[in-house]
Amino acid sequence: MNAMDSVTPRFLMCDPAYFTVEYAINPWMKGNLGKTDASLARDQWAALRRHIEEAGGIVEVEPADPELPDMVFTANVAAIVGRDALISHFTYPQRRREADHARQWLAGNGFTIHELPAGLDLEGTGDVLRDFQRPLVWAGYGYRSSLESHRVLAEALDYEVVTLRLVHPKFYHLDVCLAPLPDGSVMYYPPAFDDASLAAITSRVPESQRIAVSEEDAVNLACNAVSCGNTIILYRATPPLRSALEARGFRVVEVDLSQFLLSGGSARCMVLPLTEPRLPGGRAIHHLVETTLHVDGHLLDFGVLARILDLVVEQGCSFEVQHFEPGRRREDMSRARLRLIAPSTEALQEATSRVDELAAQFAHLTVAVGG
Ligand code: ARG
Repeated sequence: MNAMDSVTPRFLMCDPAYFTVEYAINPWMKGNLGKTDASLARDQWAALRRHIEEAGGIVEVEPADPELPDMVFTANVAAIVGRDALISHFTYPQRRREADHARQWLAGNGFTIHELPAGLDLEGTGDVLRDFQRPLVWAGYGYRSSLESHRVLAEALDYEVVTLRLVHPKFYHLDVCLAPLPDGSVMYYPPAFDDASLAAITSRVPESQRIAVSEEDAVNLACNAVSCGNTIILYRATPPLRSALEARGFRVVEVDLSQFLLSGGSARCMVLPLTEPRLPGGRAIHHLVETTLHVDGHLLDFGVLARILDLVVEQGCSFEVQHFEPGRRREDMSRARLRLIAPSTEALQEATSRVDELAAQFAHLTVAVGG
């Protein structure tokens, strides 16, 4: 029997009473400050809840906090596999306190709570999506979640983490551009990812199971869909997308969530799935690699250090400045030790060779890798 058939899906939603757009932390919110309509939002939220219940799901509702207008997006508060929950740390201070509510609710409902170390961000199932058929989670980074959080995620959930880099600002969370579906297919918007991430998707999901959505569906946040049994609930699907889903045996339900799109969210953002089964064979695996870079030279003048750090980030890597000793006078050299974290060996090689190329342009600059 399929693992999915045995559990009644349960979801956590949050009362939309205080939902508004009162700050802009993603491109969707810009221009929409103060434009939400509270009673319309309440009706749309209630319709989503009703569709989930009609599809056989159970909805738990958590009370809202009047100071947290984005708390309605419960998807973002934790990453869950089985009974293990890794509590989020939000990138923007406006949302950070949502994690306290999540910790309390999940601990009170029998979940084992895991925490991120200080300094790392991860925004729950906004960026961490469990595959329904493969023992892995797809995890995004690039706008909100830190690359390094993926290592913590693998360990906390004891599950494989496949890292995907997001490169399109409108698709700032993984759940707005990718949706694993119950039959093992994956619906996604290719322009939201870099080439290496597209390769990671195609190497794991055969072509017959890949549903690449059009730009029209992508901007209607079709990938931000809730799967419940064989029902897929979303804001809007074009006829070709609807046919592709129906051909796989899904029932497609559209629900007007225009109020929440003003804030950059749709159906999937408003639910935290609580019954994410741990598939057999799941193990703590991540694909991150790291090395140390020792850099000496006139790092402050010529903007050299900034260029090195930019190159690293452009290649999809991250860094930690572990040591920095500035040159005091014009003729003094500076010295830095950087920890470089990459999503793959290839990305790490690419980043270090770009840094070497830069070093070759400046006689004073030396770069040593490793050690
Ligand atoms: N305004 C919210 C934010 O920018 C929207 C979150 C949408 N949630 C999601 N899972 N993508 O954080």
